[in-house]
Amino acid sequence: MTSYVAINVLSVPAEMGEQLEGRFAARAGMVEGSEGFEGFQLLRPVEGTDKYFVFTKWASKEYFEKWRDGQGAAAHAGERAQAPGPMAAMGSELWAFDVVLDVPPSA
Ligand code: HEM
Repeated sequence: MTSYVAINVLSVPAEMGEQLEGRFAARAGMVEGSEGFEGFQLLRPVEGTDKYFVFTKWASKEYFEKWRDGQGAAAHAGERAQAPGPMAAMGSELWAFDVVLDVPPSA
């Protein structure tokens, strides 16, 4: 089965980047226990874009959707209650991909 990549693309004003990263440092930490989860990265823009990416990888689209509707929703509800300060992101959009090739380094 091919893996599935879901990227949350966040518009963050330059002066808010540090705050966004701070929120992720205080994140719920639930995603790593989710079925079908294959990893995630918070990516800070360096060149070519000013968007932050939350890159997530899943065993299939169905696992992503299950997380999004369950623990993912809980993690994002918690953010408003638990993490300090206002939301740093001014907008977000979801990009999704099927993984066609996934090449690890040779041993
Ligand atoms: C409405 C759009 C969204 C916004 C504004 C948003 C923002 C955030 C923020 C600020 C955090 C940091 C944790 C916190 O503050 O509690 C977080 C956590 C996270 N977000 Fe989102 N998010 C959104 C949707 C999504 C989507 C669609 C995905 C998947 C592609 C995603 C993936 C994650 C993951 C994996 C975490 C860490 C959760 C954990 O630790 O269990 N987010 N998000």
